[in-house]
Amino acid sequence: MSFPRTRLRRLRRTASLRRMVRETRVSRDDLVLPLFAVEGRGVREPVPSMPGVYRHSVDQLADEAKRVRDHGLPAVILFGIPDAKDARGSGADDANGIVQRATAAIKAAEPELCVITDVCLCEYTDHGHCGIVEAEQVRNDPSVERLALTAVSQARAGADVVAPSDMMDGRVGAIRTALDSNGFEEVVILSYAAKYASAYYGPFRDAAESTPAFGDRRAYQMDPPNQREALREMRLDLEEGADILMVKPALPYLDVLAEARRAFEVPLAAYHVSGEYAAILAAAERGWLDGERAMDEALVAIKRAGADLILTYAAKDVAARLD
Ligand code: PBG
Ligand code: ZN
Repeated sequence: MSFPRTRLRRLRRTASLRRMVRETRVSRDDLVLPLFAVEGRGVREPVPSMPGVYRHSVDQLADEAKRVRDHGLPAVILFGIPDAKDARGSGADDANGIVQRATAAIKAAEPELCVITDVCLCEYTDHGHCGIVEAEQVRNDPSVERLALTAVSQARAGADVVAPSDMMDGRVGAIRTALDSNGFEEVVILSYAAKYASAYYGPFRDAAESTPAFGDRRAYQMDPPNQREALREMRLDLEEGADILMVKPALPYLDVLAEARRAFEVPLAAYHVSGEYAAILAAAERGWLDGERAMDEALVAIKRAGADLILTYAAKDVAARLD
């Protein structure tokens, strides 16, 4: 049946009708808020390139965790910025490291809140790369060893989920083995499986002080034009024991997300990254677009493409207007 008997505008006429036939919804349950932990006491410093985002000291993170729960969000993902960095990223697997203390503080303040820890070395290395560097090359296997130790120390601190973001080959398997042999069989692995070498990480690197001192990350993060390769990355991570697979960034890679939705049965996450967030806020600041509407549209698109979970710096703002 076609026009004039079929009129698709009929179901768009009123807000109630639109509500009734809406296919996709973003709920608080889908949202994960990234948090940055820094040394010190009483610190709550704004990140200049990310309006509304702060770097908190560990004591402040306990309060922030309460606010996160008050907004009805299920989870946070933690990034640590240590005072001291070295070539091997010693701070990453330090039992008393910044993320380990932040994790313990959040779990003590809000035991029900799911704490996800980012597993990588770039915030802890003096060269800013995600692994161990020799002759200006990031070496895979020695990096994997350090990452596995890092994941175990985060689990020991109380992390519910560990999320490797380094893109070394074989790290998911090594982390699964290390967790299991240390009694952390129940700790979940959320793998940044398809993580691209993207221009959209700029503001995050300001916040995390993790810009590489030389070169770039193209020899380990994925080449943006490749989609089939992303499916290979995800399949391998699944075989190695990943529980949840992530695509990152989100909006420029919705095709990858949609293909992954078709190919895999596991929960999928997407990271609406710092640059995606900053671009919307910057345009909104100039009055060039409606920031709230643009953010909602971005997040529902990510959901529609197939994400179960969305990591977003706007999680609290979005939750606040979901009522
Ligand atoms: C660290 C890491 C990065 C992000 C998450 N984990 C930065 C990078 O790979 O350079 C980016 C997050 C964002 O931009 O919001 N490996
Ligand atoms: Zn890294």
